Amino acid sequence: MKTYLITGGAGFIGSNFIYYILKKYKDVKIINYDKLTYAGNLENLESVSDNPNYTFVQGDICDRDKLNAVFEKYDIDYVVNFAAESHVDRSIKNPEIFVTTNVLGTVTLLNTAKHFWTEGDDFKAGKKYLQVSTDEVYGSLGKDGYFTESTPLDSHSPYSSSKASADLMVKSYYDTYRMPVNITRCSNNYGPYQFPEKLIPLVINNCLNGRDIPVYGDGLNIRDWLYVEDHCRAIDLVLNAGRVGQVYNIGGHNERTNIHIVKTIISYIHDHVNSSVDEKLIKYVQDRKGHDRRYGIDPSKIKGELGWYPETKFEDGIVETIKWYLDNRSWMDNVTSGDYQKYYEKMYL
Ligand code: NAD
Ligand code: DAU
Repeated sequence: MKTYLITGGAGFIGSNFIYYILKKYKDVKIINYDKLTYAGNLENLESVSDNPNYTFVQGDICDRDKLNAVFEKYDIDYVVNFAAESHVDRSIKNPEIFVTTNVLGTVTLLNTAKHFWTEGDDFKAGKKYLQVSTDEVYGSLGKDGYFTESTPLDSHSPYSSSKASADLMVKSYYDTYRMPVNITRCSNNYGPYQFPEKLIPLVINNCLNGRDIPVYGDGLNIRDWLYVEDHCRAIDLVLNAGRVGQVYNIGGHNERTNIHIVKTIISYIHDHVNSSVDEKLIKYVQDRKGHDRRYGIDPSKIKGELGWYPETKFEDGIVETIKWYLDNRSWMDNVTSGDYQKYYEKMYL
């Protein structure tokens, strides 16, 4: 019986991970520790809220006392740190909170786990801390090549720089204290429960509302897309079988230009929902400052060591994803009410 502390579990990937673990293992205990920022939403987890293996605690990863209380109360085996400020555009406008949560929060969490997990000079058996990081720490690629685990860190945005800083702190806890840690660096995720500030749910929402679709720059920036469940499966593998102290890149050779993503969504909505939705909605807007041109992951290490590979082809995953948002219009309506409108107007209008 493993007890997981999942931080940021009310966000996009965290809630998908909680569903994944509760479905896969019957003998687990999950503590979802989340501050519930604009991006955290307990509606994501409504169907497991009564599950006896699941508990929610509202808290900030920067709050040492609250974390201490959680570790006092539960004998935590695994920490999986999803909690973060995660949106690049917001980091460009307001970097400070990214340093607070992503760097200071990570250190507070590491330190608490270290305190409760040490016995004399050693760590108790069966413990692990996993830092959910991003391919953005490697910076940007040209036309050729891929990010490997030994690609030097070269982050550009305040978001990716805060994630790179956090990664170095996690590494330092392994190098200095031999704390059992892993770092995973994943490419762009898509799937259910993603907040519509990110490209794919934003485009779906705008199509459904007949709103212009903002495409930054020339639309030819490339991202390497991964269906969120494939990411969850990779994290589970690394947690249980990853070599301690190692970094694992996660991505599945699904590179697409942004404009390809936008046109794919428009075409699906045009054909299946509303034939008046078409490419006239596309509006090329000013480019993102410091916009990374291309991300592409080399997943050889996780494939070779842990047998992981992405099971979902982009063409299937994107249809499943669009259908999920169509079937969950009330979820989208709820998350886009209130502050979202203000954010959208400030950002795009
Ligand atoms: P998200 O923005 O959807 O969710 C973040 C969650 O963290 C929210 O529930 C929020 O309430 C919570 N949170 C924020 N600040 C907190 C704090 N101080 N204390 C406790 N909880 C806090 O993010 P996501 O897209 O699910 O990303 C999760 C993690 O995965 C992040 O660390 C991100 O850097 C990383 N990641 C994301 C992607 C992607 O494509 N979305 C890809 C690779 C890595
Ligand atoms: O690569 C992993 C990263 O992917 C994660 O670490 C981040 O948390 C996650 O937000 C994501 O970052 P991106 O900046 O790549 O994702 P975003 O959805 O914001 O943008 C994807 C691409 O689409 C990017 O090139 C910018 C562009 N874009 C985005 C938006 C929101 C547009 O052209 N128009 C838009 O309105």
